[in-house]
Amino acid sequence: MDADRFRSLAETAPPDLRQKLLVLPSIVADWLEPHGGLAGRKIMDFGCGLGELAAGLAFSAPTASVIGLEVTDQPTQLPTTLEPIGLALPPNLSFREVALGEVGDENEFDLIVSWSVFEHIQRNQFNAVMARLKTRLKPGGLLFMQVSPLFFSPEGSHFWALGYTDWQHLTRELSEVRGDLDASVLNDRQRELHWKLFLRLNRFTAPDFERRLAAAGYSVLRRQIDRIDREPPAELLTAYDRDALMTEQIVLLLRRN
Ligand SMILES: C[S@@+](CC[C@H](N)C(=O)[O-])C[C@H]1O[C@@H](n2cnc3c(N)ncnc32)[C@H](O)[C@@H]1O
Repeated sequence: MDADRFRSLAETAPPDLRQKLLVLPSIVADWLEPHGGLAGRKIMDFGCGLGELAAGLAFSAPTASVIGLEVTDQPTQLPTTLEPIGLALPPNLSFREVALGEVGDENEFDLIVSWSVFEHIQRNQFNAVMARLKTRLKPGGLLFMQVSPLFFSPEGSHFWALGYTDWQHLTRELSEVRGDLDASVLNDRQRELHWKLFLRLNRFTAPDFERRLAAAGYSVLRRQIDRIDREPPAELLTAYDRDALMTEQIVLLLRRN
């Protein structure tokens, strides 16, 4: 399927799917443009989830080869997600299920893409994962990393299901947070999944990420740091750094040294 046909079908997708199939890949393509683009590249989508972004990259760059890595079996649901809009898995896309902390056994990637994953990599695993990913890249290979929401930002708990969009995870005691979860409409399984996810979020700030990436042997080629435009609660400003409280997203393009 040519890229134009893909685009016209993807335009008909529901907003969330359209965002991942069209908008996110075009952001990645834009960042990669000054560095050789996506065509013909071997690309890993690390922590691909269902795999919609990986599919969008594969459709929009048919000469690239895209491999999505996931710790869950979510990518098995991708064909069912694409089918209603007339799309089937493209031939240049495949998936690998990996154990937590592992990065697969394929090498020689030109580019690793990762969207909303690195806030989930636990602090004590982060350096090892970065070092392992580095061995999967060709010398001079690139890492495109988007991280959001950072832990100290208003939605940093990832508890959207509880309406936590104003730093509630920092102003409330943990017992109160757990109480809010237990009082929610979520079922038992969903509560435990949310709680486990929350407990495993790392607490890295934007400078922490950059320091750790530099130490792991990556150089920043481009950075975007997005801050919210509202004032944090006064009670948090006595305990936390203002910039950490206000920085919700970082996007980095890095080169393996
Ligand atoms: C918020 S989702 C983002 C999924 C996808 N990148 C997207 O933007 O739709 C985070 C994903 O990271 C995956 N993940 C978390 N830790 C991981 C790890 N150590 N290795 C690989 N994937 C991981 C989770 O299973 C989940 O699918």
